[in-house]
Amino acid sequence: MLSLSLTGLDLKNPLMLAAGIMGTTGGSLKRVAEGGAGAVVTKSIGIKAKSGHYNPSMVEVDCGYLNAMGLPNPSYKNFQHEIDIAHEGGVPVIASIFGASADEFSEIAGSLRADAFELNVSCPHACGYGAQVGSDPALVEDITRAVKNATCAPVWVKLTPNVTDIKGIGLAAESGGADAVVAINTVRAMAIDIESGYPVLGNKFGGLSGMAIKPVAIKCVYDLYEALEIPVIGVGGISDWRDAVEFIMAGARAVQIGSAVGNNINIFNDVSSCMESFMEEKEWTLDDLYGTAHKI
Ligand code: SIN
Repeated sequence: MLSLSLTGLDLKNPLMLAAGIMGTTGGSLKRVAEGGAGAVVTKSIGIKAKSGHYNPSMVEVDCGYLNAMGLPNPSYKNFQHEIDIAHEGGVPVIASIFGASADEFSEIAGSLRADAFELNVSCPHACGYGAQVGSDPALVEDITRAVKNATCAPVWVKLTPNVTDIKGIGLAAESGGADAVVAINTVRAMAIDIESGYPVLGNKFGGLSGMAIKPVAIKCVYDLYEALEIPVIGVGGISDWRDAVEFIMAGARAVQIGSAVGNNINIFNDVSSCMESFMEEKEWTLDDLYGTAHKI
């Protein structure tokens, strides 16, 4: 009832692990796959091994999580083994990758074997990477085109909400040949410790995830659905099945869950079984849910 084909990948359900959560080892990706995810996305992987920003790099705030991890990763040269282990979970494994240029992105995509690539042009706190390249439509188009030329795997582009017009960036990805866009990465944010007066994060500022950003993400998905031909994958603040349904009604073909996995590693099984009951009761299919909010 929940199965679908997305950019040529067969998924048993439209629920995926988002990049950045439990995505650094093959073992943790496999564990999430076994907990019912339809696909899993790795932590973002770059050209060189990187230790990331100083701690604290992730803190809980009242309305979610603030992180400024700084793209820590072991380099793509040391990562194929983890993807291979993750495949034992029996679902598609999507490699999230980042780079400072089209050449860096295409070197990684041309070397790693994964079921799809998700281009991180949206991390809000990494100098020279992420949103610093992903806020420029021309660069997003070039990077996407270069990756498409480097791999036969589907290419998804993960967008930043920290721009005036996310549709313009989505259209640039589409012009570059993207098979899908993923919306949204975290919202630029910070917290200050009032005892010391210092910013809480080692990097001073970072990105907000969790329930607080869901309405922001819903609006971005809604707008992208109207503007683009390619599928939109929704992510941002999903914590239960109702949120997943809301994203699909906004125009997401599939969704990703990140922060909420920290509280419940079996959230994918929970969300899919509740969605199935809801759809059975309403006699709705995924296609009936898809983009409902636009039909009014
Ligand atoms: C990080 O590693 O800093 C988070 C990645 C992201 O926000 O895309």
